[in-house]
Parts: sequence; structure tokens; C-alpha cells
Amino acid sequence: MTKRAYIETYGCQMNVNDTEVIFSILKDAGYERTEKMEEAELILANTCSIRDNAEQRIRGRIEVFHQQKKQRPEVLVGIVGCMAERLKDKLLDTGKVDLVVGPDAYRSLPRLLEAVSPDHPQIDVLLSREETYADITPVRTDRNGISAFISIMRGCNNVCSYCVVPYTRGAERSRDAHSIVREACDVYARGYKEVTLLGQNVDSYLWKSSAETVDFADLLVMVAAIAPDLRVRFATSHPKDISDKVIYTMAAHPNICRHIHLPVQSGSSRMLALMRRKYDREWYLERVAKIRSVMPDCGLTTDVIAGFCSETEEDHQATLSLMGAVGFDWAFMFAYSDRPGTLANRTMQDDVPADVKNRRLNEIIELQNRKSLERYRAQIGQKHVVLVEGPSKRDPAMLCGRASNNMMCVFPAGDLKPGDYTEVTVVDSTSATLICQ
Ligand code: SAH
Ligand code: SF4
Ligand code: F3S
Repeated sequence: MTKRAYIETYGCQMNVNDTEVIFSILKDAGYERTEKMEEAELILANTCSIRDNAEQRIRGRIEVFHQQKKQRPEVLVGIVGCMAERLKDKLLDTGKVDLVVGPDAYRSLPRLLEAVSPDHPQIDVLLSREETYADITPVRTDRNGISAFISIMRGCNNVCSYCVVPYTRGAERSRDAHSIVREACDVYARGYKEVTLLGQNVDSYLWKSSAETVDFADLLVMVAAIAPDLRVRFATSHPKDISDKVIYTMAAHPNICRHIHLPVQSGSSRMLALMRRKYDREWYLERVAKIRSVMPDCGLTTDVIAGFCSETEEDHQATLSLMGAVGFDWAFMFAYSDRPGTLANRTMQDDVPADVKNRRLNEIIELQNRKSLERYRAQIGQKHVVLVEGPSKRDPAMLCGRASNNMMCVFPAGDLKPGDYTEVTVVDSTSATLICQ
């Protein structure tokens, strides 16, 4: 009998993609996907450990899953992903979890599911130096059928002192370039018009076989060559590694989208050194200037952390002044969260009081909101080619889709359908949407 699996996904896009890999593996083990927890025999949460509040949220969900178990004792509950890797058998000690599987162990799911029962919980949290799931065709879970995410690498070899990812995802490894191109060709053949290449640090992508060496710029060229109407996006770029070769490659291919997510984290060189980001403020500003000199229309977004260990008011002002000088289109902004086991956790004091962290974060958010509005309003009068994704959330009579620079546009539906390209003119904007005609 076919069983049903329900998966909730938390954290980054890589986790969303991993959930698609998990569904593919579960399908081969006789499970079909359901979106209703109440009818599932297997309930999984694909989890994130990046900040403490991410983990607290999962703890709340474990309680909700446990209620299902109480009503239907045959239900199995599993925690997979980064929190599984970080907490390992501590999750089993809650008595509410039957299965714990780390990000590199999804191939063992069928075996673990054979063996598991409420009396015999199962765990596999081995990290791998090779696993990239290259041969597994993800079961796409996106709703629009237009835009697909493709993992090109796993893990991370940087040791940013605040970050758990190297511990939860293991060492960096790049996936076979040809398997990436095959997957992109496959989704294009199925009607998708956009692929986003995913990795924690895509600029350090490097795949070697006996015959060839492919770096990230080479990979971009290979994927862009699939079809002129297949858009290529990527994330995340690391400021220390983004090369001129990548910037010129983007500029040379109209179907590589003009958008770079370039997390700065802080505008203070002293903080960047403590964070072990391996670049300083000047280096970052130089990379931005290079990008804009080659592609003046390139969208730029970032991540910022407020209140990292020992951050002074002066460091904080340096972050604000950098954000003011660059003018990002959009940013993800966070208060620093001390993560067990990281370098910062072991060797530094999380000494910025919570109220100061939050005040600084709010100043950062307020500045960014102003900058976003400025950046979006500056687009009024511009023309953009937009890939139609589907109906606008606010107004179903309108459609939405992204410009090459990643700004969301809404425009009249006409006889357009998802997957079409259309040229629009910006007539108005909010700080997050371009209103177009
Ligand atoms: N690989 C990417 C980022 C991955 S994590 C990069 O290097 O840029 C996504 C974002 O979460 C980070 O850019 C950072 O801004 C934030 N983050 C990571 N660890 C954090 C922590 N301990 N506290 C607060 N924010 C954190
Ligand atoms: Fe974390 Fe740094 Fe790796 Fe990004 S590059 S995942 S912030 S360790
Ligand atoms: Fe979270 Fe793991 Fe991604 S910690 S941000 S799900 S790599």
C-alpha cells in the first residue's frame, strides 16, 4: 500500500531543494507526497539551525506533530536537515521523534524507514565528502512550474565565526557540471523558464574530471547556452570570491539575470575580521563598484547582522554608512544569534545587550526601507522584460513576475500566461514592487 509523506521545510532555498530530493527518494520507497499533515503516515520537518529562533519554531512544530501521533499512534515523525545534524540523538531524547536524518544521509531514508517503529527510532547523521545527490531528479514542489532551483554544490569551507552551516552541512563539494546541465535541460523541456543555481558560496564552485575543469563562470556559460529564453539566476555570492570573470560572463549573456545577492554582514572592517569574512569594507565597496561599472543596471541585495560580538556604536555606524553608500535594492537583516559550537561561541563574548542589538537592527531596517523605496522609485519610467510567474497576490486581475534585476513587477494580465516574457514600463512603485503597464 502506498503511504503518504508530508514535509514542512524551514530555512534556506537549499533546504527547499533538499525537500525535493527527499520526495524523490521517498517516492522510490513507496511514499507519495501529501500537503495534508492529517492524512500522512510520515511527517517530516526539514529544519534550519541558522539562528536560535529558527530552532525554537521547529520545537513548537514537534509538539504539533506529537498531537498527531497521539491521535494516530502509527504516525512516524522525523526531523531532517540542519537541526538534525546539529542536535543528533538529543532530538530522540525528546521521545517525540522517531527519525533523525542529516543533510548528507537522505539516501538511507528507505533503509531507516524499513527499520523504524515508535519503539525503534532511527538516526543517520553522517556527513559526507562526496554526496551531491547528482543523480537524483528532484520532485519539484514549486507551484508555478516556471522557476526551478538547482543545487550546484553542498556544504561550506568557510568558517565565518558566527555561522553553523559548516557544522550542519559539512565540507564544500561541487556537483558534476554535466548533471547540473542535464537537470536544467530537463526542467526547460518541461516548460520551466528560469533556473536558480544554488550554493552557500557559488563563486567557489569548482568541478574537475580527468578531462576538464569547470569553474562557476564556465558553469554559467554552460547553463546559459541551453536556450536563450531560459533565464539563469544564482545565489549566494561571497564578496571575497566573486571574480571579474563571473561579472564579465554575466554581462556577456543576456539570459543571465542582472542580480547579485552579495551578503556584506557588516560595514566595519574590524567586525568583518572578527567574523572571519576574509574581506574588508574597501574590498566590498570595490567589488560593488566593479559590478556597477560593468553592469550599471545590476540589482544588488545583501544580508546584514546587527550586534555581533564586541560591536561598538562606531562599528554599527560603519554598517549604516556602507548601506547608505551602496544603496541595496533589498536586504535580509538579522540580530546576531549566538550558535553553540561556532568559533564566535567558543572564543568571543556575545556581549551586545539584546535591547542594543534590537535598536541597531531597527535602525538598519529603517534605513534599508528608505533605500529600497529610493531604488524602486528610481525605476519609474524604465522598461523591463519580465518573466510572467502568475496572478498577483494582491490583485488577481494583475499578473506578477520578476525583472532581470530581480525586482517584482505587477502588470495588467492582458492575454499573457505564466512562462511568457513581456516588456513592461514602470509607472509607480512601493519599496518592494514595481507597478507597471
Ligand atoms: N552562505 C551565505 C549565507 C548563508 S546563511 C553567505 O556566506 O553569505 C544566511 C545569512 O544568515 C547570512 O548571510 C547571515 O547574514 C545570517 N546569519 C548566519 N549566521 C547567523 C547568526 N549566528 N546570527 C544571525 N544571523 C546569522
Ligand atoms: Fe556560513 Fe560563511 Fe559559509 Fe556563508 S560562507 S554558509 S556565512 S560559513
Ligand atoms: Fe538553515 Fe541549514 Fe540553510 S542552517 S540557512 S537550512 S544550510
